[in-house]
Amino acid sequence: MPAIADPGPIAAQPLTLDGITHSYGAGLAVDNVTLEVKGGELVALLGPSGCGKTTLLRIVAGFIEQTNGKVIIGDRPIDDKPPNRRDIGIVFQNYALFPHMTVADNIAYGLAARGESRALQRDRVAEMLDLVQMSGFGDRKPKQLSGGQQQRVALARALAVRPRILLLDEPFAALDKNLRLDMQIEIKRLQRQFALTAIMVTHDQDEAMSIADRIAVMNRGRIEQLGSPVAVYDAPETLFVNNFIGSSNLLDGMVEAAGNGECQVRLASGAVWVVAGARGFAAGQPVTVSVRPEQLELNDAAAADRIPVALKLSLPIGGDLIHDVTGPGGETLKVTAPRRPGTAFGQTGRFHCGLSRHARPALFARSQS
Ligand SMILES: Nc1ncnc2c1ncn2[C@@H]1O[C@H](COP(=O)(O)OP(=O)(O)OP(=O)(O)O)[C@@H](O)[C@H]1O
Ligand SMILES: [Mg+2]
Repeated sequence: MPAIADPGPIAAQPLTLDGITHSYGAGLAVDNVTLEVKGGELVALLGPSGCGKTTLLRIVAGFIEQTNGKVIIGDRPIDDKPPNRRDIGIVFQNYALFPHMTVADNIAYGLAARGESRALQRDRVAEMLDLVQMSGFGDRKPKQLSGGQQQRVALARALAVRPRILLLDEPFAALDKNLRLDMQIEIKRLQRQFALTAIMVTHDQDEAMSIADRIAVMNRGRIEQLGSPVAVYDAPETLFVNNFIGSSNLLDGMVEAAGNGECQVRLASGAVWVVAGARGFAAGQPVTVSVRPEQLELNDAAAADRIPVALKLSLPIGGDLIHDVTGPGGETLKVTAPRRPGTAFGQTGRFHCGLSRHARPALFARSQS
């Protein structure tokens, strides 16, 4: 008789949040959030402090009962199930390991709580330690580990019960940059290997951009935009999303002509820019133009579509130079350009700042004040 085989990872399941609303007493923390995370997909929840990210995750995990709405895994609502019956692995924000237990016991915790046999626990712990590249650490106590190692154990503990869904709440907040990068790669690898459907909370936009299949940008309890990292970065739908993701220069202007999905905008400095892909604007309308630093360039010659600027400071940021320039109205602009090895960056002087060739500025209506 063959032994009963370990079923292994089961097919990835979609996770649907259907109209989730939550109030803590009078305070509305989550406001009618609907989100479908596809099977095997990783969605990053990105947003400022207090916008409802942790509340939403705790609702999915079953630690908070939502005021309204449904949580569905596959095609089954799970709202009547307690947290330990939801098949969800969770790595909490600021959630330490059990300090008095060894690493191995921490990892086995969920299995023990389910009454799994000691043999299975032992095998699974060994497998998980191997998975997070920490074999040999099983007998240590959490305080004998570095921050990154503790995070890996927390991840191993979350994965040990073979969850269908993985929830991560700022799992790398306490780690330094290099370790964060290692952990991001690690999470991505494990998430793929186990075909996990995952939501990761972060307020680090670079982290969200690099790790997520899609990003949901939250503001005041609502999802303000949901899309691929590139779509959210290149085509922000609101000024909030624009300002939250990446850095950008905001310039006030007035629409001079609009039509054919294109707007001619006269900036306060007098320069006229053509903004492609801008619909729903009318001549005479006050607007804010948002342009990323890498979409601007400095030129020597004046032109109708260039702003005369004074260059005050250039700083090397990794492989780029970031120029800090001031326009005629005192407005400051940031312009980045690839740094050629050996270029001096102490240069100052007068330049003309315009859109680089493939620049796609974003346009937002501005209320007249
Ligand atoms: N137990 C609670 N009782 C009352 N209000 C709460 C409670 N927990 C959170 N809140 C409030 O609900 C809102 C959302 O909080 P939440 O913890 O979900 O935010 P967050 O997006 O995770 O923020 P952060 O990035 O700081 O972790 C906040 O205004 C917060 O003050
Ligand atoms: Mg939080």
